[in-house]
Amino acid sequence: MTEMELKSETLERIEKLIPKYPEKRSLVLPLLHIIQEERGYICDSAMEWIADKLEIQPMAVLEVLTFYPMFRRHPIGKIHVKVCRTLPCALNGAYSLCEKLQEKLGCGLGETSEDGNFTIEFVECIANCGTGPVVHVDEDMYENVDPENVDGFVEQLNTLVAQKEGD
Ligand code: FES
Repeated sequence: MTEMELKSETLERIEKLIPKYPEKRSLVLPLLHIIQEERGYICDSAMEWIADKLEIQPMAVLEVLTFYPMFRRHPIGKIHVKVCRTLPCALNGAYSLCEKLQEKLGCGLGETSEDGNFTIEFVECIANCGTGPVVHVDEDMYENVDPENVDGFVEQLNTLVAQKEGD
């Protein structure tokens, strides 16, 4: 990965961050977050790019990358569906909702559907506990998603895919 492959805003964020860390190695975690935010996952070349940038061995980046479960090593689907599974949402049916979504969207938990449209993951509390089950779809929050009636929600997700394809 060359610098050209990252958006200029991303490179700017990274350049602004570097002087704030006297120890370059401490930037591994923030850089992984920033790059995953832009690209959706961390590929080998991104890992090597970080290592070059911080003048450390790629292995040092890999260690951090594999330690934290929030980093993805593979591309995600066009629509990223994150179901909150923390207690208040769980009590309102988050697990059953997640199972039904997997079935309807054709992908397992932590996986991407074959058509590349959806990735489903569980996440911990996203601070909207009174209106669970809560689902984060890309950057948007969906509240009170009824596990007994997911068809309408699935329809909205399919509309989002169609919109992205039309962009
Ligand atoms: S428990 Fe689901 S948003 Fe807090």
